[in-house]
Amino acid sequence: MHNIRKITDDIVFIGCSDRKLSLFESAYPVKDGMSYNSYLLKDEKNVLFDTVDKVCADQFFENLKYALDGRHLDYIIVQHMEPDHCALLGEVIKQHPDVKIVCSQKTVGMIKQFFEFEVDSRVLIVKEGESLNTGKHELKFIMAPMVHWPEVMITYDSIDKILFCADAFGSFGAINGNLFDDDVNWERDCLDEARRYYTNIVGKYGLQVQMVLKKAAGLDIKMLCPLHGLIIRENIGLFIEKYNKWSSYIPEENSVLIAYSSVYGGTESAVNLLASRLAEKGVKNIRMYDVSMTHPSFVLSESFRYSHIVLATTTYNTGIFESMETFLHTLAAHNLQNRKYVLIQNGTWAPSCGAQMREILEKLKGTVILDDSLCIKSTLKPEQLEQLDNVVNTIVKSLNL
Ligand code: FEO
Repeated sequence: MHNIRKITDDIVFIGCSDRKLSLFESAYPVKDGMSYNSYLLKDEKNVLFDTVDKVCADQFFENLKYALDGRHLDYIIVQHMEPDHCALLGEVIKQHPDVKIVCSQKTVGMIKQFFEFEVDSRVLIVKEGESLNTGKHELKFIMAPMVHWPEVMITYDSIDKILFCADAFGSFGAINGNLFDDDVNWERDCLDEARRYYTNIVGKYGLQVQMVLKKAAGLDIKMLCPLHGLIIRENIGLFIEKYNKWSSYIPEENSVLIAYSSVYGGTESAVNLLASRLAEKGVKNIRMYDVSMTHPSFVLSESFRYSHIVLATTTYNTGIFESMETFLHTLAAHNLQNRKYVLIQNGTWAPSCGAQMREILEKLKGTVILDDSLCIKSTLKPEQLEQLDNVVNTIVKSLNL
């Protein structure tokens, strides 16, 4: 059965959600599912904005057919060639053989990589700032390279003042009836997953996100229509403010994130004590994660949020314990910058992982290692309490509470 939603008088939502998916992109757990958004503009010329993941094919084509209601499909705007949005492009072409594909130059090569249909005669290549008139509406194209792939562009509808923003301002999570951010408590219930989506999907490309934010700053935007997650109307300012912080690697929380791994509990016991002493000194909102138990995508997201990060782990096979090593590479791969770290190492006979952690982190711009002197040999000893307190005092001083 069709399931479409009115966005404005001329625009309908024809996307769908998947709640059976375990790992988005085979990488990220999505406990609340995933939405794949697609939109149809009904004007003198009818325009489809992207398709959806193939898992939603039946629902999507029912929606498209119902929304078109016998109208001709004139254009499909391909804002992003990743298959979670373009998987059904070939089938759209089959069903609407004379539809024009509107896309950036870089998209053309990618369409040919993913599909076998004849491409060149079907494409209308658009450049930065060019527009497409559809009758009543004027669609302006803005290139957004690396947000999230190099071919990405976003589209501004100057009549309804909507920014169709591709992966930008997207989020993990299915759509549960409520389609707009003002239908839910967005900041309370959705911001964390929006942050996890941003940091993991485009977190590495802060500079490119900044460039797009600058381009969008001059637009009068009443609605953000992303390709994943809720449509944003009420929280545009807050979301843009968060994007500005995340893409500039500015922490949201002046506090301490403790990420650790512990084989037999010695390291865990030490960081529990560290956390208690930090709290006694007035540090609020401390977060702790065992990186062997929590997926790196969540801890990465928290790392973008927090100003100070304590990493504590064990030396294992003369290296860094595996789950911590994975997490460190996650931080490095996503280019987290401007964070202050404390490193704590453990090792029963040859602790050496501290220097290896330092080596990974020092490659990240703006890294400050506040302290890496605490070395636990199996368990923290009473004679090390003074040293632990020195670490606590160093962190508290740096927090400037
Ligand atoms: Fe939602 Fe980069 O695809």
